[in-house]
Amino acid sequence: MMLSDADIQILQRDGFLIMPDLFSVEEIEALNDRLQILKDETCPENILEKNSNEVRMVMAVHQRDKLFEKFVHDPRIVEPLQQIRQEPIYIQQTKVNSKAPLTNDVWQWHYDFGNHHIKDGVPEPLALSFHVFLDDIGPFNGPIHLIPGSHRSGTDGYAQHPVYYDDYTTSYAVWAVDDQVISAQVKKAGQINPDQQIVAATGRKGTALLFYDTTLHCSPANVSPWKRTIFSLIANPVRNAYTNTERPDYLHHKDLTPL
Ligand code: SIN
Ligand code: MN
Repeated sequence: MMLSDADIQILQRDGFLIMPDLFSVEEIEALNDRLQILKDETCPENILEKNSNEVRMVMAVHQRDKLFEKFVHDPRIVEPLQQIRQEPIYIQQTKVNSKAPLTNDVWQWHYDFGNHHIKDGVPEPLALSFHVFLDDIGPFNGPIHLIPGSHRSGTDGYAQHPVYYDDYTTSYAVWAVDDQVISAQVKKAGQINPDQQIVAATGRKGTALLFYDTTLHCSPANVSPWKRTIFSLIANPVRNAYTNTERPDYLHHKDLTPL
């Protein structure tokens, strides 16, 4: 499946693209059945929330389950990534992020390259993040929020945002971006489109969200009685691979076989 010219324009302008209903409900339910089995395992690849025994992240799903392995190779995921990067890309990370009903865990404002660069020594912000909603996601169950245009600085070039290390608000520490930067980026987005200063990526299960490594995003608590589950694949050009191998394989895969 190739992206249209209009899709590419939106991606380049906003730094993200939402593709409604890319997968069918039946395809997603089959993955949810597999996910339940993976979630019940006790292993380092399952990362719990800070203040509860709920599983927050199920890592390396494509290595742990055949259906997820098939899923990451689906042309609806791989072809857009190849179309954008036009060079061999490897699977840097796969995971499913959960927010159980009425739980407080959040993702602070961050950009993924801040983490890929510092934690894994990835040289350039060229990775792409491809998410698929495994639940219906609305305004109340902790949708991913994004700031349009935050991926670019000036008229061209990828943005580099200053970061701080947040290891106290969540169980999964991230290099986060501070409030002043967020305020400035939201203001900049508002000058371009006052109705799109921050966008909550919502949609039915099966909807996809694609964004760049420098796009600012976060997600708030799930204040609803509904769960919120999102699959994600991070794909990075082989020539831009990690230079630091300290983190375990399930956080950054070392296998550079092209996707
Ligand atoms: C989330 O699952 O809400 C955040 C995902 C991300 O930071 O990519
Ligand atoms: Mn992220």
